[in-house]
Amino acid sequence: MDAADRVSELRALIAHHNARYHEDDAPEIPDADYDQLVRELLRFEQDHPELATSDSPSMMVGGAPSATFATVVHTSPMMSLDNSFEEAELRSWAARVAKGLDLEDGAAIGYVCELKIDGIALSMRYDDGVLVQAATRGDGRAGEDITANIRTVDIIPKRLDDQLLADKGLSVPEILEVRGEVYMPLDEFVRLNAGQQEAGLALYANPRNTTAGSLRQKDSTVTASRNLAFWSYQLGQVIGGPSLDAHSQSLDWLEQLGFPVNPERRKVSTIDEVITFINYWQDHRHDLNYEIDGAVIKVDSLAAQRTLGSTARAPRWAMAFKLPPEEKMTLLRSIEVSVGRTGRATPFAVLEPVVVAGSTVEMATLHNQDMVKLKDVRPGDTVVVRKAGDVIPEVLGPVLSERPEGLPEWEFPTDCPTCGEPFERPEGEANTFCVNPVCPARRHSQISYFAGRSAMDIEGMGESRVALFLDEGLIADSGDLYFIDWDKVAQLEGFGQTSIDNLRAAIEASKSRPLTNLLIGLGIPHLGPSGAEGLANAFGHLDPIMEASVDEMAAVDGVGPVIAASTVSFLSSEKGRALMDKFRHAGLNLQGPKRSELDQVLQGLSIVVTGGLEGYSRDSVGEAIKARGGKNPGSVSKKTTVVVVGSEPGASKVTKAEALGIPMINEEAFNRLLQTGEFAEAIPELKDE
Ligand code: IVH
Repeated sequence: MDAADRVSELRALIAHHNARYHEDDAPEIPDADYDQLVRELLRFEQDHPELATSDSPSMMVGGAPSATFATVVHTSPMMSLDNSFEEAELRSWAARVAKGLDLEDGAAIGYVCELKIDGIALSMRYDDGVLVQAATRGDGRAGEDITANIRTVDIIPKRLDDQLLADKGLSVPEILEVRGEVYMPLDEFVRLNAGQQEAGLALYANPRNTTAGSLRQKDSTVTASRNLAFWSYQLGQVIGGPSLDAHSQSLDWLEQLGFPVNPERRKVSTIDEVITFINYWQDHRHDLNYEIDGAVIKVDSLAAQRTLGSTARAPRWAMAFKLPPEEKMTLLRSIEVSVGRTGRATPFAVLEPVVVAGSTVEMATLHNQDMVKLKDVRPGDTVVVRKAGDVIPEVLGPVLSERPEGLPEWEFPTDCPTCGEPFERPEGEANTFCVNPVCPARRHSQISYFAGRSAMDIEGMGESRVALFLDEGLIADSGDLYFIDWDKVAQLEGFGQTSIDNLRAAIEASKSRPLTNLLIGLGIPHLGPSGAEGLANAFGHLDPIMEASVDEMAAVDGVGPVIAASTVSFLSSEKGRALMDKFRHAGLNLQGPKRSELDQVLQGLSIVVTGGLEGYSRDSVGEAIKARGGKNPGSVSKKTTVVVVGSEPGASKVTKAEALGIPMINEEAFNRLLQTGEFAEAIPELKDE
């Protein structure tokens, strides 16, 4: 293959992986492999300048913004960073910087060393101290408007407190753009995946993609439930701020303004100190409650940054150093298969315990039959283990040079290890199932899930009691929990009157759980908490849900055609109907929440509020608008229907509304708008100005 062919192949590959990473949040290859492709392309373009084009992926950052969110054009491009992987590369960067600044190689330059947070880049704009816009990086030139979602991130200031700042001798800048990284703390990622696991849903791959997914939610309450966090690392546009000479000063200023700035940053003078910083974090990255994928080194002096300038893709005054993900080798003792509540048979690796990325790994899922075949791991192999996103253990593959001679390939069992019935693998499906409805393994996980915390929350009905009651023939499905023969239970070992009373009371209490919990507890494949909530809200009672068609269900927010088909198939089955009858008989709550009583008079209207209103707080005004079906974006655009102007309004919103000819109303007119969906009066004194 000649250079031109390889270059076009590399460009196509990079564009493909860019789209998977930035647009689908579903990378297909590890970051290190992607970096390798980009470096190979850059090398070709350097060696063959005639092959370089301005639309090469090497000149661009990230992916295009999606159509789901409004587009925000950045005031200045959100650039990428050049990467280095070895000390020598860092040293030659330092030499280039020295040359660019007319200094001798080895001269003290002054750098800020920061951690490279593995999250999602964000730009936030504050007008007169109020958060008015938050956008993703997108393709670097324009990103997605995710203001509503960012407003739910607790740690991000929504408004700078001028009183508090005045006490520190600071004032609120007229315009402030803060750039940084939104991320998901590791403990939060673990909590979220524990919930997924309990619900029998697919696990999130890593904190970074989960952060991206959380920010892309159309429903901000989902984002709010994710407990995201943020580190600021760069100033964008600033008007009315202090004069700053160094990047380190801008970080200190951001911190004083109340923004979270990573405390692990270090100001150093030489590249040797930079390398000490990197070596330290190489060994200590797992002490942190968030993921880093390296360090970012920035020339501190802002004057020097201006002298050095940028290429089309990245600043010359900054360099990323990428840390490799930690990998360990261990023995694959055996491969076993577990059967879940939907009957899905999941193979998993049983490993010789090994410490990876800060914790001991003994087991790792192998997902399905094809995955085991693809990886060709065999019991007795030495395997490479890594943690996906440094959290979920993953078997990468065998070390073939260590494979004992004649080690047989692993065969997926033909029969369920629990009930002995043959496994089935539906045509075109990656998963294999135990389809025996009375398989004890399936029943056990179904009933334990029903009684579990994410569903009916029956205290005292844990996995071991479910197993015991199943063994004793006291229950056969979750509906039987409400018809237990307590005289028989009293004869079992370990059941005194108090524990029976407690368990009965817990079962009784579960009868009044919300319909959403009952739907979750059914363990219908694909139907998770948000789909269940969507159905309960939209239909208001179990009866219309039982009668709904696939299309009617699929139209509900949070329920797509796959969930709808699976739910209809379960509820219309004989088993499903019989189970629902048991619940009805037992007197379970089948009523969903009441639908909003408010008339949706603001449907289709986009209402921007600026300044304070007498009768509302900042949050409650947005809620009042949304509860009536309206939108309440943080900034004025062509799509804005009307701007509500309160006391001390933001100058830029008023100016923009004037420029676009968007009507402005006062609080009184706003109150009428809330009731009628109509507004009449613009504010004459503002219009005349
Ligand atoms: S500075 C012009 N600092 O890494 C410089 N970026 O690979 C802009 N990142 O897009 C970036 N931690 O999303 C900077 N301390 C840090 C960072 C950081 C993480 C991300 C950021 C950037 C990407 C480039």
